Amino acid sequence: MIETQTSSAGISADELTAQASALVSGQNDLVANAANLSSLLFYTLKDVNWVGFYFLKGSELIVGPFQGKPACVSIPVGKGVCGTAAETKKVQRVADVHLFDGHIACDAASRSEIVLPLILDGELIGVLDLDSPVSNRFDEEDERLLQKIADIFIRSLV
Ligand code: SME
Repeated sequence: MIETQTSSAGISADELTAQASALVSGQNDLVANAANLSSLLFYTLKDVNWVGFYFLKGSELIVGPFQGKPACVSIPVGKGVCGTAAETKKVQRVADVHLFDGHIACDAASRSEIVLPLILDGELIGVLDLDSPVSNRFDEEDERLLQKIADIFIRSLV
C-alpha cells in the first residue's frame, strides 16, 4: 500500500527515506532534525492532519517540532496514545482513536493515529506521533516505513 496509502503520488517509500536521510545529513541538532522530518512527513504522506514530536522531560512528554494544528503541550507518561507508547516503549497503532481509552484529542478531525517511541541507547527520549482524519489510515507497511524514519532521526543525534 506504499504508493496509494503511505505516500502521495509520485514518491515511494525508498525515496521518502532517502529524502529523510539527506535532510539530517551532517546535522545532529535535535530540534532542527525533528522540524525538518515532521515537515517532510506532513507534506509527503497522504491523509495526515498532524505530524510531530514529543520529547521526554521528567515524567511528561512536551511537544516539540510539528506540523498541524496547535497541540497539547504536555502529556504525562502513561496517558493517551503518546503516553502509552512512551510507557510501554512499543508502537501504538490505533485504527479508531474513539475506541482508545484515554485518547487525548488535540484536533477533533483525527480518526486514527500511530505513535512510535524514540529510543536512544536504550532510553526513551520521546515519541513520533502522526494523526489522520481517516479511520485505520496506518497499516503495517506504514509502521515499517515510519520506524525507518524514527531510526534515521535517532541515528542523526549521535
Ligand atoms: N492524540 C494524542 C495526543 C497528541 S495529539 O494527537 C497531537 C494522544 O492521545 O496521546
